[in-house]
Amino acid sequence: METSKIILAIETSCDETGIAIIKDGKLIANKLISQIDLFVHYGGVIPELAARLHEYNFPYVLQESLNEAKITLNEVDMIAYTFAPGLIGALQIGAIFAKTLAISLDIPLMPIHHLEGHIHAANIDDKIIYPAMALIVSGGHTELVYMKEAFSYDIVGTTRDDAVGECYDKVARILKLGYPGGPKIDALSREGHPAYKLPMPLDDDSLDFSFSGLKSSFINLYNKLMRSHELINDADLAASLQYSAITILQKKTKRALQKYPSKSLVIAGGVSANSYLRKVFNDLHDTKVIIPKIQYCTDNGAMIAQAAWDRFSANNFENNYFKESISSEELK
Ligand code: KG4
Ligand code: ZN
Repeated sequence: METSKIILAIETSCDETGIAIIKDGKLIANKLISQIDLFVHYGGVIPELAARLHEYNFPYVLQESLNEAKITLNEVDMIAYTFAPGLIGALQIGAIFAKTLAISLDIPLMPIHHLEGHIHAANIDDKIIYPAMALIVSGGHTELVYMKEAFSYDIVGTTRDDAVGECYDKVARILKLGYPGGPKIDALSREGHPAYKLPMPLDDDSLDFSFSGLKSSFINLYNKLMRSHELINDADLAASLQYSAITILQKKTKRALQKYPSKSLVIAGGVSANSYLRKVFNDLHDTKVIIPKIQYCTDNGAMIAQAAWDRFSANNFENNYFKESISSEELK
């Protein structure tokens, strides 16, 4: 009889210390300590502070996750952790804890790419059908990724400058909404209408994006309105930005699906928590659309646990997100 397998997964790439535990493909714990409450005072993440906070918070999150799973550390069969991309110091803290646990428990270690984690969050409550397309929209990435099969990643479109989440965060700063800007703009947009005209950035035949262009157009419009002493409706401004940003994401994704026919479309990363995005993408027909539950969109340990489980059950330990591979020795 098959014995059950337990993987403990660690995510520390930015400002969330996340740990999740997955047993035989089922999440049995998912705990997170966010550092957002601290970084609101600075208007953004301070990498050195983030790393120190991961170090401080890690033991608490670990204990809470074991309590939730009702297991002891000795029952864990494998440790997974985010190895890249992210803030170097923050990633290193996660890697050190992961390696220490794996060595002291004498169990294997599985490095997981952060974006693979975001994509595989789709498998927590649903199932990616291949060939599949992923639209990754986060604070650091805006990418269209074609997946001929599981764990094969072809980046077919990307941003030429800022990521869409970065655009939301920067515009939120101009509107003095605070950090992180995405959820604040999303909430404010719901009180307004896209009454201001903003251009569709890089509305061409390519599958690429340019969100720095959209941010600059927003700043120019804002300055013009300030100079003209017109009454500015912040909610309408937020809704206008949101309309342009999400519409171009939708247009380019449709184009990508025409070029690369896919059986499912996964929307992944923090911006997939956006209410307008969730509405318009769910209306996309022909392709099965998977947008994970909100708690699995922004950074969390569960997505790393799911990706690790998917790799473990497929017995696939090659990491080729950026066509690089990790030797099997490193898995031990
Ligand atoms: O995936 P994530 O948690 O971290 C990275 O890997 O970057 O994404 C964070 C980004 C931030 O830019 C944040 O403002 C944005 O996701 N975000 C949102 C929403 N919730 C988070 N953007 C738009 N609408 C939201 N509701
Ligand atoms: Zn992320």
